[in-house]
Amino acid sequence: MYHPRVENEIITLGIETSCDETAASILKGRFEILSSVVASQNEIHSIYGGVVPELACRKHCEIIRSIAHESLDKADVVLNDLDLVAVTRGPGLVGALLVGLSYAKALAWGMKIPLVGVNHLEGHVMSAFLAQPRIPLPNLSLLVSGGHTELFIMNELGKLEWIGGTRDDAAGEAYDKVAKMLGLGYPGGPEVDRMSRSGSATIKVPAAMMNSSDLDFSFSGPKTAVKHIIEDYKNKGLSLPVEDICASFQASVVRALINKTLFAIEKTNPASISLSGGVAANGALREAFLRLGEELGLPAIIPKLELCQDNAAMIASAGANRYLSNPKDKAWLDFLEMDPKSSWIPNGD
Ligand code: KG4
Ligand code: ZN
Repeated sequence: MYHPRVENEIITLGIETSCDETAASILKGRFEILSSVVASQNEIHSIYGGVVPELACRKHCEIIRSIAHESLDKADVVLNDLDLVAVTRGPGLVGALLVGLSYAKALAWGMKIPLVGVNHLEGHVMSAFLAQPRIPLPNLSLLVSGGHTELFIMNELGKLEWIGGTRDDAAGEAYDKVAKMLGLGYPGGPEVDRMSRSGSATIKVPAAMMNSSDLDFSFSGPKTAVKHIIEDYKNKGLSLPVEDICASFQASVVRALINKTLFAIEKTNPASISLSGGVAANGALREAFLRLGEELGLPAIIPKLELCQDNAAMIASAGANRYLSNPKDKAWLDFLEMDPKSSWIPNGD
């Protein structure tokens, strides 16, 4: 029979393999990170300009065990100390998810401890709370990553109600595609961000859906605008002002994100706001988001830079939070049939 420790002492192993990062983390309670190890596969995929699923899966298989053990060693924790395993169940690449899920199931089964299948997006949202757990609720959360641009309202920690999202490209995806058009590396977001710093936003890149009355985004418009701008310069035989194009594209994306967040605040009247996901590492977006909170007198939280990208600390935190909200639920021990979910938007569940 399993006997969990007191709530703020439970030790969770988090596992994340939804895309191209193999990550493991040890967490104490809901928010105290004892270790967080992330092995990025950027080098493998950069020559293809995007993630190659088969290569991602193979790499996860190769290193998952050593990454998990590295996280245990760094936290000075042994397998017997674990109370819980939390693993990303979706959304993501099915093959990649299966690697982490299978490893986590085997470990939890062998150690006779509970397992929580975590929604990756819920993990991202929790990454903001890892820095400041005591922020007042309801929280309006803007999640901006390579695969998602979503707005959620959260009345209870970890319970996300979807209120809007992108109709086409995610913001990070648009960043990556713009970087590719400009011949910058993969992933493109950090490169476009870096280039923007020495450019000025003097080229017109329209921000889409600024005046629509819903809470949806669109980023294929700004991306296509950049395509036309590049073609125009090339047709005229002019050299590309790469820094200015990056700054102009970035200004358009940030304007759209902040504008819709403001709109969502007016609609939902939250007590705080949070930003998360890979694009939350963007300097201009971080600044604009914090300024928005300040102007409205709303506490605004943003994850530390290392917790913006995919990591397992956020998965452990979301898993521990779910588990601790109902530790006696038998579902945590009945996980052998749990399957990966390639698409899965949390909506109040
Ligand atoms: O959350 P994440 O690590 O993976 C997904 O779940 O998608 O996000 C990765 C995305 C990529 O599209 C990457 O280009 C973008 O985040 N990104 C950035 C920056 N750093 C990463 N985008 C804009 N500015 C950045 N500094
Ligand atoms: Zn992610």
